[in-house]
Amino acid sequence: MADSNKDTGDNVHKPKSPPPSNLTRNMVIASVFLTFLAYAAAVFTGEEASKTPRDASLDLPPQSVFIDPKSFAVLGGTDKGFRESSFKSFFNPTSTAPPFFQVFDRRFLSILGPNASIREVAFNTTFAFAHEAPIYVSATDEVFFGSNDGGPLGLSDLDNNNVIGKISLKDVDAAIAANDSAINVPVTILDLPDTVQMTNGGTGPYRSSLLLITSGRGPRPPSIALVNPQAPHNVTVLLDNFFGRQFNSLNDIKVHPSGNLFFTDVVYGYLNHFRPEPLLPSQVYRFDPKTGTVRVVATDFDKPNGIAFSIDGEIAYIYAFDVDTRTHAFTNRRVFAYIDAGVPDGLQVDLTGNVYSGCGDGVHVWDDKGTLLGKFFLGTVSANMVFAQPGRLVILAETKIFVADIAAAGLPSISP
Ligand SMILES: *[C@@H]1O[C@H](CO)[C@@H](O)[C@H](O)[C@H]1NC(C)=O
Ligand SMILES: *[C@@H]1O[C@H](CO)[C@@H](O)[C@H](O)[C@H]1NC(C)=O
Ligand SMILES: *[C@@H]1O[C@H](CO)[C@@H](O)[C@H](O)[C@H]1NC(C)=O
Ligand SMILES: *[C@@H]1O[C@H](CO)[C@@H](O)[C@H](O)[C@H]1NC(C)=O
Repeated sequence: MADSNKDTGDNVHKPKSPPPSNLTRNMVIASVFLTFLAYAAAVFTGEEASKTPRDASLDLPPQSVFIDPKSFAVLGGTDKGFRESSFKSFFNPTSTAPPFFQVFDRRFLSILGPNASIREVAFNTTFAFAHEAPIYVSATDEVFFGSNDGGPLGLSDLDNNNVIGKISLKDVDAAIAANDSAINVPVTILDLPDTVQMTNGGTGPYRSSLLLITSGRGPRPPSIALVNPQAPHNVTVLLDNFFGRQFNSLNDIKVHPSGNLFFTDVVYGYLNHFRPEPLLPSQVYRFDPKTGTVRVVATDFDKPNGIAFSIDGEIAYIYAFDVDTRTHAFTNRRVFAYIDAGVPDGLQVDLTGNVYSGCGDGVHVWDDKGTLLGKFFLGTVSANMVFAQPGRLVILAETKIFVADIAAAGLPSISP
């Protein structure tokens, strides 16, 4: 998303006693207290109970902190620094300087591996150049991404398009090898045709192209577009309407194992003043690129945002849904997780089925049942991230990019 309303906007962002209807509609957000109580109960009454936190601390990788959920189940008193905001104060009881790995469950250690590291590799304090649409192209070892569309420091609005940039991971490796103290690798901005307007999400490579999803700008339609990662960066638009109506402002997209493209449509373009009033509800669609048909698979959202599938394609994460095998309609909507900082944005799934989401304080990681395992704690918002090479996670954080070298690997891209 490009959410300029994060701190000041609508009911999503007022954690203090939201009315029940908002609670049900914003299931992924919750108070830290409830989240961690539920979490602690799961860990310490279940099979994990025999593994003591002390064991975990013995083999902690560098830059990581283990926090026993039992240690903060009761803070006690009124002087213990209870958080008073889900957006402006984060849960960092050890006051560790970010970036670091915050471990709540020892299973996070197998995601990190023994030699995990995390570092900032690019920054620009005046420009949110690294918002979403992270796509790793292995052929050139580059990561592509879009700048913030219409939000803070995005330098884009009704009159100005956002941009797609890329960094080379070879540059990152060279800077690391040179022991540079503050790494800031060059960002190359792509020169794209006018058909790509306010890119918000992306995935791929898909048919050797970047698969971008755009919010549109003013009268220019939101669209799904293939972009050649190589110059001249020619574009093929795959979809730009729903039976003649423009979408509101398309947000994010994933390729399902069936080969269909599933995507979310939200109202951020309107809220951020670069799109007209919405003509359609905020909902989730499926596009079949073989037949050109588009159908709605889930509706009744406040703001659907990132989307991802379990490895077998049977579960969709936005909330959690089952994907009906016959119709691909999303059924059995349920809480997956309720995050404690900011709002959940881009979603990715790793090879073993763990779910990653960009949140207010960094990247949160859950097992496939929704238990919080740990965080890539940045102390700042991340809207999305992407696996690059096995064991390398590239995290977009608006004005910064971080690279984490860990043990986990991402799912191979699906490109029928
Ligand atoms: C971690 O680093 C140590 C020391 O450099 C090395 O011996 C070991 O092979 C590394 N382990 C992995 C999994 O990379
Ligand atoms: C930051 O981004 C702005 C806007 O694109 C650009 O003018 C400026 O040169 C960038 N600064 C650095 C240090 O790259
Ligand atoms: C970087 O630091 C490592 C470990 O301190 C050292 O072995 C290596 O020679 C350094 N490399 C350069 C290019 O200075
Ligand atoms: C770009 O142009 C090349 C050469 O015509 C074509 O093969 C390729 O499919 C195009 N890619 C896109 C994304 O339009």
